[in-house]
Amino acid sequence: MIITVFSQISIDGKMTLGQGGSSKGLFERFNDDDMQFIHHFRGKVDAIMVGRNTIATDNPQLTNRYEGSSPVRIIPTASLDIPLSAKILSSPEETIIVTTEQARGHERVQQIKDHGKEVLFSGIDQVDFNLLFNQLEQRGIHHIMVEGGGNLNWQMFNLDLVDEIILMQLPIIIGGVATTTLADGEGYNDMAMIKSFNLHAFEARPNYNLLHFKRITVGQPEAFYA
Ligand SMILES: NC(=O)c1ccc[n+]([C@@H]2O[C@H](COP(=O)([O-])OP(=O)(O)OC[C@H]3O[C@@H](n4cnc5c(N)ncnc54)[C@H](OP(=O)(O)O)[C@@H]3O)[C@@H](O)[C@H]2O)c1
Repeated sequence: MIITVFSQISIDGKMTLGQGGSSKGLFERFNDDDMQFIHHFRGKVDAIMVGRNTIATDNPQLTNRYEGSSPVRIIPTASLDIPLSAKILSSPEETIIVTTEQARGHERVQQIKDHGKEVLFSGIDQVDFNLLFNQLEQRGIHHIMVEGGGNLNWQMFNLDLVDEIILMQLPIIIGGVATTTLADGEGYNDMAMIKSFNLHAFEARPNYNLLHFKRITVGQPEAFYA
């Protein structure tokens, strides 16, 4: 499985405007070419994954609205607290809500299925991403774009699952101690624990800097962008 973390961030690594705010304001700084870059990448991957909180906050469609196909949408959630009005449930693209064994029998399981979307069980009380990725590989999903938020990204990094990071870094400062960053979670206070990546490519584009990092490993399949 290839995992690409793909995010729009500020200079100070924030992914949204204020605690619990939507990231949609950041997109006002992008032009059509910039949006095409995001959607073009969505057309190249098999699946796109965001955390349940991003669905609740941003209500994204997570589709490729330009040329090419849309990725399968994957949403991990233990609570299943996804609004039934969410665009991912009402739009036709394939969507997999991934939850835990403990959530079997939850009334929301059937409600999601009634919207024509799949519910997959993976893990006991939290979604087990290693198990999930094995399940997805067996369905032909080999490359997932992870589009945040900070909680989900942290887990991907903490589990050493990330092969590459693509950042569209806006030349702005947002600030805010509680505002979501690229990776939240507990963080590391020991240099032996930190995750390291190589800067593979950098390009100053008119509205943002494109930063492409790759995991430092040997013998991995090549990930790609652009
Ligand atoms: N700029 C960008 O590129 C960008 C992209 C996306 C999001 N954002 C911003 O990021 C913010 C949301 O980020 P966030 O960190 O608060 O939340 P998040 O990462 O979007 O979602 C966290 C939730 O995902 C579910 N989840 C994650 N890992 C799980 C696991 N192993 N097992 C079960 N469920 C799991 C949990 O849902 P349950 O509580 O249901 O268990 C968890 O509470 C929003 O403000 C949004 O605007 C920015």
